[in-house]
Amino acid sequence: LRIFSGTANPQLAQEVACYLGLDLSDIKIKRFADGEIYVQVQESIRGCDVFLIQPTCPPVNDSLMELLVTIDACRRASARSITAVMPYFGYARADRKTQGRESIAAKLTANILTEAGADRVLAMDLHSGQCVGYFDIPVDHVYGDSVILDYLASKRISTGDLVVVSPDVGGVARARAFAKKLNDAPLAIVDKRRSAHNVSEVMNLIGDVDGKVAVLVDDMIDTAGTITNAAKVLHSHGAREVYACATHAVFSPPATERLSSGVFQEVIVTNTIPVPADRQFPEMTVLSVA
Ligand code: R5P
Repeated sequence: LRIFSGTANPQLAQEVACYLGLDLSDIKIKRFADGEIYVQVQESIRGCDVFLIQPTCPPVNDSLMELLVTIDACRRASARSITAVMPYFGYARADRKTQGRESIAAKLTANILTEAGADRVLAMDLHSGQCVGYFDIPVDHVYGDSVILDYLASKRISTGDLVVVSPDVGGVARARAFAKKLNDAPLAIVDKRRSAHNVSEVMNLIGDVDGKVAVLVDDMIDTAGTITNAAKVLHSHGAREVYACATHAVFSPPATERLSSGVFQEVIVTNTIPVPADRQFPEMTVLSVA
């Protein structure tokens, strides 16, 4: 068994290796002047089961291409099996056509990973479960909610005070599963309408949050428009405190400003994507999924 880290999230890879009591294996990854990627595995992996830890963190295309080149290098070095460990799977939101003449880039990404030589994929909190079906190779789809739930339990919020909230209709199944694990906490749903990509507009709230501690649950926070607008609606309907929980901290600008604007008691994310120092803020807690 050999574990290699790409350049997207070496800290997470190191934590995984420590957890397993193994060392990361040596790999050379370089960028040429024009941005092309060079990869050379630094030891024999002939007949080995290789795990490549490379979430496709922003810049997504760069991280993905690096993963593809690394898979290719491992395949050509006669690895017995290659598992792409992609805790954050970019393009997962492009999982269907919402209008004519669009691409389904999640399916395309699955195709090129398989074509490059991946035998298996491990992904966390894919935007939708159907992405698993885009692969003709096995996919282990795991969830970040166990670490988030353990952390929330340490807050000792009384069950009667809690309400779990989905910030949009598409996330209801995820929020319902989360609520079930919180002693079947009640559920509320924010009906979000988008007027354009990366712009969210909140319309309605379904459910009762008055006087409650509201826990918003999402797969990712990107620009934070969705979750911040949802939090404002919850406050306007009487929520006492609002927590935001999401596995993937994409945090594209202006996420940091929105998340630290005072609407959240706490923003709880995991380390599938590293949060650079200039995007951190006091209300943020990062939990390890290693
Ligand atoms: C969309 O349906 C996703 O689950 C997230 O809610 C969304 O992608 C977050 O994007 P943003 O933070 O830019 O609103």
